[in-house]
Amino acid sequence: MKISDFNSKFRSDLTELYTVDEVSSLFRIVLEELLSFDTTQFYLKPDYILNNTELDKVNKFTNELKKGKPFQYVIGETRFYNYKFYVNDSVLIPRIETEGLVDWILRENKDSKTTVIDFCSGSGCIAITMKMKRKKWNISALEIDKKAIDLAKRNSFRHSVEINYIHADIFSWNNYDEVDIIISNPPYVVESQKKNMKVNVLNFEPEKSIFVSDQNPLIFYKRIFDISKLKLKEGGLLYFEINPKFKNALISLSKKYSFSTYELKKDIFRRNRYFKFQK
Ligand SMILES: C[S@@+](CC[C@H](N)C(=O)[O-])C[C@H]1O[C@@H](n2cnc3c(N)ncnc32)[C@H](O)[C@@H]1O
Repeated sequence: MKISDFNSKFRSDLTELYTVDEVSSLFRIVLEELLSFDTTQFYLKPDYILNNTELDKVNKFTNELKKGKPFQYVIGETRFYNYKFYVNDSVLIPRIETEGLVDWILRENKDSKTTVIDFCSGSGCIAITMKMKRKKWNISALEIDKKAIDLAKRNSFRHSVEINYIHADIFSWNNYDEVDIIISNPPYVVESQKKNMKVNVLNFEPEKSIFVSDQNPLIFYKRIFDISKLKLKEGGLLYFEINPKFKNALISLSKKYSFSTYELKKDIFRRNRYFKFQK
């Protein structure tokens, strides 16, 4: 099959599930990641005939996409803060919003000896990016899912950084030292928001990395505030990614824990997304 014919077939196969722009981005992934072509090459050689191995690869990719599987899971990796990270269905696919959190923390904190813990670390994208950018930091990452920890370790190895991984449930684990900075992007979408979500998130990404109950939406933040009382150094910083819906509730909660000052920032979509508290 000619590559230009495959392009037409790919587009018609995916029109129901994806917008025209999304299909164009996915086709770029076919070219660059699966065929090691670049886009210019494609325009220069529309009559290029895909060999059997290439055809097999691109057909498998298309079939998985047709089921709604996120392309990052199909190719087994994604980009975060311009670095490549392995992903699989035991971790949340790192989001562009979370890059904003990492960016904020890096801009405000320099490379002096600093101890950091990342709660609910998933693929390790936050902890590992920090460590690549701040070599002197001593970073721990806590995560409940063993498979996620295993994948995060592969990501650490890929980027040659050392992270102290802790396989534990945040609600029962107490065995850690005082730190200068706590970071967390915990599960924060409430069950009632499910109805507005796309099938490729709902059917493929791990539920426990995304959802919390409508009855107790701030459960992770409460736990982290509790931990902070004992384990965050005086003057230490707490950075959260949040559900914009709970901005005010989180401000009220922080007051109960005597975090008197906070800073709130918006993500690139202009939604209230990140909090910083200082002890
Ligand atoms: C929203 S994801 C964030 C993953 C990663 N930090 C990121 O920003 O892409 C939340 C993570 O919390 C983990 N998690 C859920 N419940 C947990 C618990 N009780 N203790 C520790 N981690 C938990 C999930 O397995 C998931 O990896």
